[in-house]
Amino acid sequence: MAMVMATVSPAVGSVPPRACRASRASVLRAPAAVSSRHAQKGTVPGSCFATATAILLAASARSEVRRARYASRSSHVRRAADRPVVLEVQDVEAQSTDEDHKQILKGLNLTIREGEVHAVMGPNGSGKSTLAKVLIGDSAYEVTAGTAKLGETDLLDKEPHERALEGLFLAFQSPPTVGGVSNLDFLRAAYNAQRRAREEPELDVIEFYGFVTEKLTELKINPDFLNRNVNEGFSGGERKRNEMLQMAVLQPKLAILDEIDSGLDIDALKDVAEAIRNVREQDPKRSMLVVTHFERFLRYVEADHVHVMYQGRILKSGGKELADKLDEEGYDWVLNPAK
Ligand SMILES: Nc1ncnc2c1ncn2[C@@H]1O[C@H](COP(=O)(O)OP(=O)(O)O)[C@@H](O)[C@H]1O
Ligand SMILES: [Mg+2]
Repeated sequence: MAMVMATVSPAVGSVPPRACRASRASVLRAPAAVSSRHAQKGTVPGSCFATATAILLAASARSEVRRARYASRSSHVRRAADRPVVLEVQDVEAQSTDEDHKQILKGLNLTIREGEVHAVMGPNGSGKSTLAKVLIGDSAYEVTAGTAKLGETDLLDKEPHERALEGLFLAFQSPPTVGGVSNLDFLRAAYNAQRRAREEPELDVIEFYGFVTEKLTELKINPDFLNRNVNEGFSGGERKRNEMLQMAVLQPKLAILDEIDSGLDIDALKDVAEAIRNVREQDPKRSMLVVTHFERFLRYVEADHVHVMYQGRILKSGGKELADKLDEEGYDWVLNPAK
């Protein structure tokens, strides 16, 4: 569901899976029944499906069809510093929108270029998931300062579904269930919403089946996945693989994977890592922001840049050798350099 949901469900991840059940009827009715703004604000029953459905709703509900902004980019290999910037986060401060108004991000800066994989690590409670959710537009957080751009697009001005249509994808740490909606319907709806937004013809069931079957083969995912309801009865590992399937179908410019490795045994971890490598290889321009708590995951998914986040800021950045050092020495030397 990551893929479909990621494109479709920026706000989904903030809601516990239990609360994220949306009936088939509500998903399919949503474009006409509720505005995406309501969905973003979490006022829609089952607001968890906002991300997943946002894309579906977006293209069908809007009268003004967004022009495709996927400008063609030259394919030759460029030096890292010459590659176009995909994500530029500058001095972002954010707080929770609940009654606590807790300030979580305290001046965050991050630049991701085309084709780069960045890992964000750091102790629990550092603000890693908040960063991911702020980028996708989760209404549980309010940005009080700073800017975030995806290419030339000002992300913070956009609603979650618009961000998804711009090419941003978030795979959730705990992918929610969507009861009564098959994976196939869900994926096709999200994929076609993207195509409508780009003014491309939609794929019918047969055409889409051919397309998605290729992805299943590439990712070594059992075709049964398509007939099962979104994440219903899925194991933790299956949910994460389903997220990878969504990512492969939606083909984002920037995929944010929030602790995609958490709760997986070693075999599931390797499978998910292989799926990530596979999706990356489909398009060398695709960028990824991999949030992980475990240095070891980066042995499977090679990051170009590694950042340590703590107390709402990035304290240290480096290459993949930084992850190795963290694995050997822990975080203390970064968090308390004077010691
Ligand atoms: N919606 C929220 N309301 C209040 N506090 C929150 C909210 N979301 C996160 N926090 C708090 O902000 C801090 C950072 O959380 P989080 O971004 O989940 O950290 P990480 O992903 O690095 O473990 C934690 O102390 C967490 O309890
Ligand atoms: Mg987290």
